[in-house]
Amino acid sequence: MSNINNPGNVTLRPPPLAMYIHIPWCSKKCPYCDFNSHESPRKIPEKEYVDALIADIKNDLHLAQGRKLSSLFFGGGTPSLFTGSSISTVIKCAEKLIGFTDDVEITLEANPESVNLQKFQDFCKAGVNRISIGIQTFNDQQLNLLGRLHSSYSATKAIEIARSAGFNRINIDLMHGLKEQNVSNALKDLQFAISSEVEHISWYQLTIEKNTKFFNDPPKLPDCRLISEIQDHGCQLLARYGYEQYEISSFAKQRKRCTHNQNYWEFGDYIGIGAGAHGKITLNHEQTLLRTFRTRQPNDYLKHKNRGEKKSIVVEVPQRPLEFMMNVLRLKNGVPLKYFPERTGLQESYISKIVTNLKKEGLLVDTETQLLTTSLGFRFLDTILDRFVRSHGES
Ligand SMILES: C[S@@+](CC[C@H](N)C(=O)[O-])C[C@H]1O[C@@H](n2cnc3c(N)ncnc32)[C@H](O)[C@@H]1O
Ligand code: SF4
Repeated sequence: MSNINNPGNVTLRPPPLAMYIHIPWCSKKCPYCDFNSHESPRKIPEKEYVDALIADIKNDLHLAQGRKLSSLFFGGGTPSLFTGSSISTVIKCAEKLIGFTDDVEITLEANPESVNLQKFQDFCKAGVNRISIGIQTFNDQQLNLLGRLHSSYSATKAIEIARSAGFNRINIDLMHGLKEQNVSNALKDLQFAISSEVEHISWYQLTIEKNTKFFNDPPKLPDCRLISEIQDHGCQLLARYGYEQYEISSFAKQRKRCTHNQNYWEFGDYIGIGAGAHGKITLNHEQTLLRTFRTRQPNDYLKHKNRGEKKSIVVEVPQRPLEFMMNVLRLKNGVPLKYFPERTGLQESYISKIVTNLKKEGLLVDTETQLLTTSLGFRFLDTILDRFVRSHGES
């Protein structure tokens, strides 16, 4: 259907809606981390922050446009530093003011050193139904090099107590490509993870980011060839034990994928709440795509004035194909082609020439109904995305 306000000429349809809630404090800042996380003061202003989150949710109610939340994600920082009662207050607020779909996923990120059985039980009672534990590695020497506060023993314990508290959806975050790591000890880490029987593993390659200690004093990391070998063997091992790789770094058993991340990668909508959180919203009436940004510093965020002045930018038509492809092509099975017009407001013809060429080159699968990479394309995503940087609807 054509629309006069939308130069792409297709009516944008608001996709499923999620909410991301950022908790910006950690007990200690890790030397590799460039997330908006801050070493916690002696006493975290937890009550004030929860009040601020609630005010923030109220500010953004209009963005829901009648949709219920299919996912709520407490990320960080270290959300497990907060009490179950604080988490419960925020969940209740989101449920009352916006509402949840019947199968809503509510995830909370936890660090092994900041949890115990009681805390996990409290989170469970509060309505959290998925726990994501930041383990990084089960190797004590590597944990030390990464500046982590937990040991491999407390990592294993955290998984056990999450299970006994009643969680049947547990993710663990692991990193590979660590200092002096070889294929054998990278696989050992994965073996540990597999034997813990978690439903989901996020297996990230350690990257050196600006504004981190590692950037200024980089550890000696494995070279590209070794990383590629680690990844090939790692993916094979995970597949052997029933972990389906559904995204570059995401592996799920029994199809227990992360609904929240899947929504990002399907170019769904999300409201971003909390210090430094960002959101992506399709505005139905204005036929516009918006990205929203909150102020980053926790102290600024806590001052009502700054938090209220949320910044947002419109995602203009020429940027939309690249933004869409950057997300959806990370998914191993891609997405239905019809998501492109529905979620970008642009006609399929806007990208058809590029897509045809990529199919001819064997980088995209030749199908009429699905947008997905071949296994070659999955390895060379940057090459594919580069074409959309220069797309601008020339087809
Ligand atoms: C932002 S953290 C939040 C979770 C939790 N605070 C933790 O670290 O355990 C989410 C995950 O991002 C990953 N991560 C952070 N910095 C990274 C980097 N430079 N390279 C690769 N993965 C990184 C880690 O695996 C981490 O668990
Ligand atoms: S990796 Fe996690 S624990 Fe470490 S500083 Fe970043 S958010 Fe905090």
